Amino acid sequence: MNKIYALLKSLEEKCLSNEDILKEEINLLKNLLLRFKSSEDRQLRHLYTLSKSFENEIKYEDLLLFIIPVERVLNKRVSDVDFGIKKKDNKNIIQQNDLKIVLDNIRSAFNTGALIRTCEVLGVSEVLTTGYTQGFESEHVLKTSMGARLKISKFRDLLEVKNELKSYKLVGLETSKHSENIYKSKLNKNTAFVIGNEHFGLSDYDLSLCDHVMHLPTFGKKNSLNVNAALSACGYEWVRRFL
Ligand SMILES: C[S@@+](CC[C@H](N)C(=O)[O-])C[C@H]1O[C@@H](n2cnc3c(N)ncnc32)[C@H](O)[C@@H]1O
Repeated sequence: MNKIYALLKSLEEKCLSNEDILKEEINLLKNLLLRFKSSEDRQLRHLYTLSKSFENEIKYEDLLLFIIPVERVLNKRVSDVDFGIKKKDNKNIIQQNDLKIVLDNIRSAFNTGALIRTCEVLGVSEVLTTGYTQGFESEHVLKTSMGARLKISKFRDLLEVKNELKSYKLVGLETSKHSENIYKSKLNKNTAFVIGNEHFGLSDYDLSLCDHVMHLPTFGKKNSLNVNAALSACGYEWVRRFL
């Protein structure tokens, strides 16, 4: 099974770098899959049947029909990073908007990378990090941001950010006693949304530094979203009003 997986991954690499998969490689894959012909596992038997339909050509989408079941059988843990989107990016379209995002003490490099990716898609002009939030010096942030590149400035704490962004309204995103529903609140064009730590959220001190504190209304038992989900929803509310 590991041999099949290694072959599939090397074929995936070829697809992602736009190289052709050779007929001999397809045949090698078919030969290796022959062993699944009478497997007890229905999914593996299906892979053998499926392999018979490929002769001269196999596309990336087809290859995934093999890779994903094999990955599952092998209990491979895959994250977004492992299936990097390398094609179809808007290579020349870069619009910088008047929105800034502050990432305040974000612990997980994977969350930070995902947040940066969202920021780039939103056209955010600058990401400001405080405390222990990592930037592109972290390999995990770099990978999870999936090629998103934008200006990241580091600050010690939110007070430093506040002094830097004098012409901006700091809007803390948090579900707190005194927070306003974002859909019913006035937003400024020059806004810097502040996202808090995954576990603790924004501290009382940081909340006191914000010009406004806003929340997304929630309707379930839980009252908080994952940081990136929260940023996406609030970021697009800003986009809806100003772009
Ligand atoms: C998972 S939450 C932090 C935990 C949260 N304070 C709690 O214990 O319920 C992490 C961050 O995501 C953002 N966030 C999550 N849910 C939100 C919501 N409903 N409205 C606005 N921001 C939210 C906030 O910036 C928050 O600091």
